[in-house]
Amino acid sequence: MIFFLLLSWNLSIADVLDNELRHYISQIGYRPLTEVQIDSWEMVKLGRKLFADRRLSGNNNISCLDCHSPAQGGGDGIPLGLGEGFNYVNNARRQLYGAVLKRNTPPLFNLAYGNFNMMFWDARVEYDSWAQTYRTPLEKFNDLALTKYLNGALSAQALFPIANHEEMLGQVGENPYAELPTYLVWNGLAEKIFKLPDYQGFLQAAFKNIRRADWNMGLLARAISNYEAYAFSAIQTPWDKYLRGDNNAMSEAEKKGAIIFSTPKGRCFVCHNSDHLTNFSFHNIGIPSIGYNDDQGRVFGQNAYLFRTPPLRNVALTAPYMHNGSLTTLREVIEHYVNPMHSLYLYDIEALNTKYAGTYNVPLKWLDTDASANYKMETLSPPLRTQLILSDEDKNNLLLFLEKSLTDTSYFSRL
Ligand code: HEC
Ligand code: HEC
Repeated sequence: MIFFLLLSWNLSIADVLDNELRHYISQIGYRPLTEVQIDSWEMVKLGRKLFADRRLSGNNNISCLDCHSPAQGGGDGIPLGLGEGFNYVNNARRQLYGAVLKRNTPPLFNLAYGNFNMMFWDARVEYDSWAQTYRTPLEKFNDLALTKYLNGALSAQALFPIANHEEMLGQVGENPYAELPTYLVWNGLAEKIFKLPDYQGFLQAAFKNIRRADWNMGLLARAISNYEAYAFSAIQTPWDKYLRGDNNAMSEAEKKGAIIFSTPKGRCFVCHNSDHLTNFSFHNIGIPSIGYNDDQGRVFGQNAYLFRTPPLRNVALTAPYMHNGSLTTLREVIEHYVNPMHSLYLYDIEALNTKYAGTYNVPLKWLDTDASANYKMETLSPPLRTQLILSDEDKNNLLLFLEKSLTDTSYFSRL
């Protein structure tokens, strides 16, 4: 009898937790992700080959895969990315002749969904699905023939690293493509790929209904995005399973973490919500500026240092964090949200440089001045302006939610 009472008592505690979490889930409108469509397996196969092919670069020395490594969740595991000319020494990335890029290399999970319509930390490539037009740094982009093969932001994005001098194209004087205006870079490099003997079978299979005269870089970009859609999908996280109805998918501690995430206690849901755990809004969350040149992100009127709220699935696999990789662990991220001012004013660049010793030719600098730090705090995104009160247990539960509930490593088997 006593045993029975205990059992039902336990059950009811679990029920209360699930009821509470499910209440927030429906209130906030979190949704699980469903399978994403690909065009064909032939497109995925061609995309996989292109993604890993250094011949897509001006100097034949770098591929998408060199910066977006599946083992690092599609990122590179270092704070600021390294451009073409970097190399591997004992399997570790070393700057050598590469430029230090101004931002962290983002992970590539779940970017192929139609509603994920803005790419890059500052969303400089964006797809308007109503007008079916693109906004990119390149003027008259929508007039180019290659855009007719694109199917959203992810496919458009793939065009840009190829034409970027520091990332893949190389500098003027190093190869003939680097001299050309952007649209001719795309034409030139596409023709180079179309002539390669080892591509003939892949191209014929993937573009079988399209006349050779109509092939262009748009098709190659679409193939790359097909590979990204297939390979970098993470839709079987415990969180997705829980959202689909399985109460056993998450532990009690993770559920408590999800509740902190979803209530004024943690406030994360204000920006990280919906199906991708982002509402695609732009915020200054008080991140230190590091590197060699101050990066102000998007600037709207009086507000600078604005960056796109990132998605969070598989976030445990993609350290370091933020647009510049300045925070190295999820615990540091949580401490940052608990007290952004403390985190910014007492930022420890030495610790970062020690952790990534040898990566950069010159150690990264912390660039904030009193003026920029004060400005970041004065214009801090409003939801972060009052301090969070979280106990150690709260922080641990929130961490477990980020680390365990949002992780799906099944993509390893698809690479
Ligand atoms: C030299 C390293 C490097 C190479 C090579 C590279 N990328 Fe990136 N990638 C980055 C960095 C850094 C960013 C972030 C830049 C920014 O936001 O301003 C990025 C951003 C992206 C994004 C946007 C993700 C998001 O969440 O908005 C996608 C998608 C992507 N890259 C795919 C590719 C593809 C496809 C290729 C090959 C055609 C490629 N990258 C080549 C470093 C690289
Ligand atoms: C005001 C909107 C907002 C709130 C509230 C918010 N975030 Fe964020 N989050 C962002 C933005 C914007 C970034 C990117 C900022 C940057 O890089 O400068 C970010 C970045 C992150 C990252 C880094 C992801 C990556 O890939 O580098 C994590 C993890 C994260 N947030 C978790 C949380 C958690 C946990 C909470 C609650 C304690 C929270 N966020 C609250 C807007 C928000």
